[in-house]
Amino acid sequence: KILILDFGSQVTQLIARRVREAHVLSEVHPCDVTDEWVREYARDGSLKGVILSGSHASVYEDTTDKAPQAVFDLGVPVLGICYGMQTMAHQLGGKVEGGHKREFGFAAVRARGHTELLKDIADFSTPEGHGMLNVWMSHGDKVTELPPGFKLMASTDSCPIAGMADETRHFYAVQFHPEVTHTQQGQAILERFVLGICGAKPDWVMRDHIAEAVEQIREQVGDEEVILGLSGGVDSSVAAALIHRAIGDQLTCVFVDHGLLRLNEGDMVMDMFVGKLHAKVIRVDASDLFLGKLAGVSDPEAKRKIIGGEFVTVFKQEAAKLTSAGAKGAKWLAQGTIYPDVIESGGAKSKKAVTIKSHHNVGGLPEQLGLKLLEPLRDLFKDEVRELGVALGLPPEMVYRHPFPGPGLGVRILGEVKKEYAELLRRADAIFIEELRNFKDDSGKTWYDLTSQAFTVFLPVKSVGVMGDGRTYDYVVALRAVQTSDFMTADWAELPYALLKKVSGRIINEVRGINRVTYDVSSKPPATIEWE
Ligand code: XMP
Repeated sequence: KILILDFGSQVTQLIARRVREAHVLSEVHPCDVTDEWVREYARDGSLKGVILSGSHASVYEDTTDKAPQAVFDLGVPVLGICYGMQTMAHQLGGKVEGGHKREFGFAAVRARGHTELLKDIADFSTPEGHGMLNVWMSHGDKVTELPPGFKLMASTDSCPIAGMADETRHFYAVQFHPEVTHTQQGQAILERFVLGICGAKPDWVMRDHIAEAVEQIREQVGDEEVILGLSGGVDSSVAAALIHRAIGDQLTCVFVDHGLLRLNEGDMVMDMFVGKLHAKVIRVDASDLFLGKLAGVSDPEAKRKIIGGEFVTVFKQEAAKLTSAGAKGAKWLAQGTIYPDVIESGGAKSKKAVTIKSHHNVGGLPEQLGLKLLEPLRDLFKDEVRELGVALGLPPEMVYRHPFPGPGLGVRILGEVKKEYAELLRRADAIFIEELRNFKDDSGKTWYDLTSQAFTVFLPVKSVGVMGDGRTYDYVVALRAVQTSDFMTADWAELPYALLKKVSGRIINEVRGINRVTYDVSSKPPATIEWE
């Protein structure tokens, strides 16, 4: 395994992720572990290398951290990244100076000499034949003098020592960030270190993560009871399946059906978790309550507040029942928080991010309920959570589902929400999704997988149509399908006409009450993905 010592950079978990992508087990631990801890950690011989992460701090402030000296005495390879390079230089007798200006962004780095780490890895070559790397830099301080035994490995104009190596001791360090995707050869460099230099075996698979996580959950929770708010979304579902694997009936899931879910969604969740996994799930049918509160409300943000607020109220009532059983009552609240949520809540929050979070991760609830927080997916990225879900036996259709907003159909029925509208929309949307799964492009991928998010919007207006010999005067729906990598910007998807034709024909024929189907051809920005 690889030990990653965390000096507090926001991207430390990305290093771990890259190591996992190389199929090697890695563990992140705080940089201030003791020398004894490090020696004990390495005692069984499974430790193949150490990576020192970046930080926001400067090695020259008194308060900042150093790597435990033992790391350099273990005889295993060490890679320092950014601050990790600076502390390595500082601790091993080199010199680090405060940069006069911060260097932040892309840089072209020239690889010097032939080090094991960078040999034959380059994005392009100079006329003289030097390998050049396009990398991402983010630092103020820099190494100005190599420690004894080290040689220059890489440089840029503004940072003459951008990489250094002591190949006899297998110590390597780079000032840039190989873990971020902006560094084009980043994965290659990290794999070179982990697989080549450290000689770690690429035999780690997500399945192994289950065993580790299960053990950790058992250790953390002991014989206490856990409750979890199950929404049917990817994160809470995977968290539930994982925790259930670990502690079985000590977990109780609470599934609040707010009446604004997709067709058969509640039944599907129950079939999966109760029918197949035999988990304890309390299904709360609160649709009348939610629809009652929403009556007469048409402002999108007001609707969001009501749905979010009611959700918390209902969940708290259920949780109170489960925690009130004295010593036997639940002591833990589990949440499907994933790593991007952790970054989001630590960094600057956009208004939207706050709104989104209030539905997903019932913020502040653990304190209010007097519960301890269990977040077994905290270190994982979305695609890893999906992979884990599949490894846990959840159906791929559930795990690879498009995102669905917390307020559900509440923001896909424009204006006032009515039960009748929700029923029409649910049926129309199910047809659209079914056909997206049926139609494939030339490469054999379904249009569901070719789009990032697709859904139907209910427009509370009526238009005239003709059916058989009669005139109809019915509702209109809009189909929405977008392609995006980050949901911040999005293009409308160029769905095949044959698919649109099939969907429109089916909706108008099968859903009495809708006589017109339109396709939304607006991109984000200036439109948003959802209509409200
Ligand atoms: P927009 O409409 O802002 O959507 O382009 C971007 C992404 O956010 C989702 N979204 C929400 N998710 N609660 C959520 O949990 C909300 O209130 C909400 N509003 C939008 C939207 O589905 C898309 O994936």
